[in-house]
Amino acid sequence: MRRPPGPKPHFLIGNMPLASSDSLQTFLRWSQMFGDVFYYRAIWLHVYFLNDPDLIEWVLIRNSQNFLKDRVVQNSRWFFGKGLLTNEGDSWLRQRRLSQPAFHRERVASYARVMTAYTEEMLQSWRPGETRDIHQDMMQLTLRVVVRCLFNVEAEKTDIISSAMNLLMHNATGARMLLPPIARYLPTPSMIALRHAVGQLEQTVYDIIAARRASSADSGDLLSMLMNVRDDDGSGMSDKQLRDEVLTFLLAGHETTALALSWTWYLLSEHPEIEQKLHAELHRVLGGRSLEFADLSALAYTDRVIKESMRLYPPAWSLARTAIEDFELRGYKIPAGANIVMSQWIMHRNPKYFPDPEKFNPDRWLDPAMQKLPRFVYFPFGGGPRQCVGNMFAMMETTLLLATMAQRFQLRMVPDHPVIPVPSFTLRPKHGMKMTLTAPASAGAQAAAVRSTNVG
Ligand code: HEM
Repeated sequence: MRRPPGPKPHFLIGNMPLASSDSLQTFLRWSQMFGDVFYYRAIWLHVYFLNDPDLIEWVLIRNSQNFLKDRVVQNSRWFFGKGLLTNEGDSWLRQRRLSQPAFHRERVASYARVMTAYTEEMLQSWRPGETRDIHQDMMQLTLRVVVRCLFNVEAEKTDIISSAMNLLMHNATGARMLLPPIARYLPTPSMIALRHAVGQLEQTVYDIIAARRASSADSGDLLSMLMNVRDDDGSGMSDKQLRDEVLTFLLAGHETTALALSWTWYLLSEHPEIEQKLHAELHRVLGGRSLEFADLSALAYTDRVIKESMRLYPPAWSLARTAIEDFELRGYKIPAGANIVMSQWIMHRNPKYFPDPEKFNPDRWLDPAMQKLPRFVYFPFGGGPRQCVGNMFAMMETTLLLATMAQRFQLRMVPDHPVIPVPSFTLRPKHGMKMTLTAPASAGAQAAAVRSTNVG
C-alpha cells in the first residue's frame, strides 16, 4: 500500500524540520503542498502528519484505544514519572477520575478570588514606564495561582521553578526533543544545569507533600484528594506517586496559561484598535472595580480576544501519538510504532475554515459559520479522553488575569524586540516578551470605544 506524499528525504537523516530555525513555517508549507496527510522520516522516527479535522477526530476519539502518547512524551517520563499527563491505561484512567472533581465547575469558580487577588498583588509593584519580561511575570503569577488553588500553599521560590521550566523547555526544542532519556546523564554543562534545576523542582514538590503530611489537614483540595485515595489493601499513594502528580499539575497547570496570556499581550500591543475595544468592554462591565466570577459571562469581547489569540498562538502547538497496531487511513497503511502528529498551529491557520487566517480578528468568532466548524478545526485543549483536564480552569484564569491587568496597564512591545515563537513542548517566545507598561487609555477614549463594542 502507498505511503502518503511528503518532502524529499535526505538519504541518511530523512527530514529534520524541528531542527530547522523555521520549523513552524516548514510544517505550514508542507501542509499546503501535500494536503490532508503527509509523511516524513526524522532519522529513525516515522512521522505521519494529519491536517484534516475528520482524521484527527478518528485518532483522538474514534480510535483512541489504538494510540499511546508519543515518543517525546514517553522520553519525558524520567522527569514527569507517571503523572496524569504521561501515564497510560487503567492507572491513567483511575488518576483521571480521581483528579476530575478538582476541576468541576463549582470548584473552579471557587478559585476565582485567588486568581484576581494574586494578580492585584503583583500589580501593586508595577510602575508605568518600566520595562518587564511579561512572559516571566506571567509564569510566576500562574504558578502561584495553581499552587494555591490545587495544593493550598503559597508557592515559594517561584523564580527557581520558572528557571527550571525554562531549562526543561529549552531541552525539549529542536533535535534535542529526540534525545533518549539517558542523555540527561551526559556531563555537558547544559545537562548538568538541567539535572540541578530538576533537583530543585523536585525538592519544592517534596516540601509541599511533607508539609501536608505533617499537618494531616484535609483541605479538600487536589492534594488532599490524592492523599486520601486508598488501594484495595488500604495503602495510600507513596511519596513518589504523589511527586509525579504534583509535579505534573504544577507544570502543566501554569506554563500553558502563562503562554496564552503572553501571546495575548503581544497581539494586543500590535493591535491597539482591538485593545481599545477590550478596554471599552471592561470599562462598561466593571467600571474600574475588581472582577468576580459572576462578571465572566458579560465579558464576551474579552472571551473572543482570548479565543482568537489561542487560534494564532496555541500554547500547545501540536499533539502526537504512537500507533499500537497497524492501521489504515485514507487508503494509506500506517504501521505500528509510527508517530502521528496533529497540529493546532497548522489547523488553526487553515484558510478553508479561517478566511485571512493570519489576521488577528476576534470578531471572526461572531460569524455563525464559526459555530458549525468541525470539532478538530480549533482544538487548543486537545480532545477525546486525553483532553486537557484543566481547560475550564485555564479559560477562567486567562480571562480574570487579562481583564484585571488590562484595567490597570497597557503593555507595549519594546521596539525591535524580536518575537519568535519556538515550538518546544509548548509554543514559547524565544527571547521572552519584553514590554513597557503605560497607564491605560483615558476613560474618554474607552467610552468612545464602548459604542463600537455595543455595535460589534
Ligand atoms: C491555556 C492553557 C492550557 C492549554 C492550552 C492546555 C492544553 C492541553 C492539551 C492540548 C492537552 C492534551 C495533550 C494531549 O492530548 O496529548 C492537555 C492536557 C492536560 N492538561 Fe492542559 N492546557 C492548559 C491549561 C491547563 C491547566 C490550567 C491545567 C491544570 C490546572 C492543565 C492540566 C493538564 C493535564 C493534567 C493534562 C493531561 C490530561 C490527561 O492526559 O488526562 N492544563 N492540556
